Amino acid sequence: MSSSKLEQLRQLKEDVKLGGGEKRIESQRKKGKKTARERINLLFDEGSFVEVGAFVKHRCKNFGMDKTKAQGEGVVTGYGQVDGRLIYAYAQDFTVLGGSLGEMHAKKICKIQDLALKMGAPMVGINDSGGARIQEGVDALSGYANIFFRNTISSGVIPQITAIMGPCAGGAVYSPAITDFVFMVDKTSQMFITGPQVIKTVTGEEVTSEVLGGAKTHNTISGVAHLVSDGEAECIEDIKKLLSFLPSNNMETAPIYEVQDELNRLIPELDEIIPENPNKPYNMKNIIKAIADENDFFETQADYAKNIITGFIRLNGQSVGVIANQPKVLAGCLDINASDKAGRFVRTCDCFNIPVLSIVDVPGFLPGTAQEYGGIIRHGAKLLYAYSEATVPKITLIVRKAYGGAYIAMCCKELGADVSLAWPSAEIAVMGPDGAANIIFRKEIADSDDPQMIRVELVDNYKREFATPYKAAERGYIDDVIEPSSTRKRLIDALNMTASKREVRPSKKHGNLPV
Ligand code: HXC
Repeated sequence: MSSSKLEQLRQLKEDVKLGGGEKRIESQRKKGKKTARERINLLFDEGSFVEVGAFVKHRCKNFGMDKTKAQGEGVVTGYGQVDGRLIYAYAQDFTVLGGSLGEMHAKKICKIQDLALKMGAPMVGINDSGGARIQEGVDALSGYANIFFRNTISSGVIPQITAIMGPCAGGAVYSPAITDFVFMVDKTSQMFITGPQVIKTVTGEEVTSEVLGGAKTHNTISGVAHLVSDGEAECIEDIKKLLSFLPSNNMETAPIYEVQDELNRLIPELDEIIPENPNKPYNMKNIIKAIADENDFFETQADYAKNIITGFIRLNGQSVGVIANQPKVLAGCLDINASDKAGRFVRTCDCFNIPVLSIVDVPGFLPGTAQEYGGIIRHGAKLLYAYSEATVPKITLIVRKAYGGAYIAMCCKELGADVSLAWPSAEIAVMGPDGAANIIFRKEIADSDDPQMIRVELVDNYKREFATPYKAAERGYIDDVIEPSSTRKRLIDALNMTASKREVRPSKKHGNLPV
């Protein structure tokens, strides 16, 4: 082959690599952002990334676009290895027409989505875009729709992770929203359906884009995002860590890691962790970390609906999804947001064959008109539905309160818990002692000469008789009451026992999840 042809190829590839050119790369850096290629290089194992579609060009002629070059069509697409595993990815290039999405930009993403689905490998999308390329009109909208469709078809088959590393506005937000996990970078990423200017025109509200749709907003208020990072490099490290807990597809299990931690490790501090006073809070995260391999807990949605905790640990090297009530926030009550957060997490684990561990300390559903009017009935139903629907191994550990409907909603035996354990501090009943005494002993209290004293006595009796794990254990609703210090060993035993679980459900098109 003539050297000029090789020269031409090399030059063309160099041009593509430069994206929108030095000036725009400089402006990208000034905003505290990396380029699309730098992000891709951080994600993939060194030298493993294979680019697909570097030469793709748009064919738009509107508004002078026939004279506009758009290197790589504003998006880098391809595949490679992340910690030795096959991963597909796209990264939008803001230096090229603001990373805006037109017909061919979308086709590049769709091609990678199709390959990821066919090969059964996770898909990571890095968004940094001004949205639909205005010059391409309806072709751009069609491009988005093609991506959303593929996101949906891939859902539950391959893990899909989106990182927002710049603007993500208008309907563009719906691709991330359909994926399994959304990561955002503090201060440099925003997501919103309508921006500050439109809001001001329509409703008169004045809001900055950061307050409207920044990483903090979506990680604390809306629940749209699952993780926030201080910088892009940290964000990509978090994505890699999350990938380590997930299988490549729904036909596989998550990778098993070598364990340094002792499988039979006793944890004496757990014998002391539950306060004597049942109304005193403690930090549930200390229990989760104590039982996990190497005390490592990867939390998701840490700042949203903090009354419930979700995230991944490993037990004996195996990935486990944890859902736990947090007594430090709203006494660990279930509310609308907690139900949504936990329900979605249970379904994510179930899709990807990750056993579910529920650690229960829940006094009930949060009372109040705000909750009732907000639809706690249908939101709470999502959690019950998700647990009942899940066929992965389900292990439930009740450490303190487990009252009423919330006891059921946190995966009691009848919702399919394969192993249900309780600590001696567990209180499993229809309602807490004070409320129960007021109802069932109303007459005795009213008729007494000393209602205050008789009330205290009756509440104490109720506590001794019913606010224990033993009534539930007598009926077999609890398999065993265990010493807290032995929890890690007992959970690993339970995981080993359930490893070969097969549960078949009636075939149907799909269930009708309450939404
Ligand atoms: C074409 C676009 C573009 C777009 C940005 N650019 N957005 N080109 N279509 N949607 C171009 C700009 O013209 C500019 O080109 C370059 O990208 C960088 O943009 P700047 O404005 O200079 O950057 P910055 O100041 O950082 O502002 C970023 C921005 C702003 C906030 C994203 O560009 C913006 O508001 N863009 C429009 C956003 C928008 O309304 N998009 C449509 C949303 S509706 P030059 O050549 O000057 O460098 C939507 C519908 C999707 O997306 C529906 C799916 C169902």
